[in-house]
Amino acid sequence: MDKFYTMKDFQEAVAAIRQYTELEPKVGLILGSGLNALAESVEDAVIIPYDKIPNYPVSTVAGHQGRLVMGRLEGQPVIVMQGRAHYYEGYSIIQIGFPIRVMQVLGVETLVVTNAAGGLNMTYRPGDVMIIRDHINLMGMAGLNPLRGPNLEEFGPRFPGMNNAYDSQLRDVAQATALEAGIPYHQGVYICLAGPSFETLADVRFLRTIGADAVGMSTVPEVTVARHGGIQVLGISGISNSLGGEEGVPEPNHEEVLEAGKILVPRLETIIRGVLRTL
Ligand code: HPA
Repeated sequence: MDKFYTMKDFQEAVAAIRQYTELEPKVGLILGSGLNALAESVEDAVIIPYDKIPNYPVSTVAGHQGRLVMGRLEGQPVIVMQGRAHYYEGYSIIQIGFPIRVMQVLGVETLVVTNAAGGLNMTYRPGDVMIIRDHINLMGMAGLNPLRGPNLEEFGPRFPGMNNAYDSQLRDVAQATALEAGIPYHQGVYICLAGPSFETLADVRFLRTIGADAVGMSTVPEVTVARHGGIQVLGISGISNSLGGEEGVPEPNHEEVLEAGKILVPRLETIIRGVLRTL
């Protein structure tokens, strides 16, 4: 049986964070696999390891630092998750949403979520950026929705809408920034699978057929919780590998995900800074 959180659980976490800083973050930033270096640009940074925060899911994967960095980026007060927990690590889908609730209680209004993803769309290349236009909540359709359980009315409605989940204005600004900086980008549909195994060749063809452009193992649960709470979202995938869906194509592997991160970090930083300047 899943554990469902109450407001008290979130408040305990917020109280622990308040021991470190009084900063009132307006923007939340989640850094995906290989993208942790983005947090190094945060000014006046206060660092809080996840294991110092009650109930907070701790990430165990290589490339995920597992700490909050709070400070300023482009003058905006930010809370940065340097690494995240995934469903495949053994957390419940409800636990994956916990950090988003903490952000909401702290007053976050905008969430910028990043991830590493495999390119399903044949035109995508490793190192490309995909501004997420929409997602397919395949895990949610199969019953793994982070909003399952008692609805906390203080956070949002029982049956939240998911149109414009990825804010069209934020996407426009992200796109304009990428264009101006000469960063190769696309707008596309992200799909989240549970992982940790990568896709079979038939999976790849299926995912492409149902309209997904990039596949990963995160983001959708977090965005679902954020939208329930009325937080506006910008999502960006860093394409770490191309998925051919044909015999003879090399297997994706975690090392190439981390490797692509090196090219992607400066690209994502440029786009995120551009967006933060307009908030
Ligand atoms: N599949 C699923 N998740 C991923 C991939 C992939 O090819 N690359 C990075 N995350």
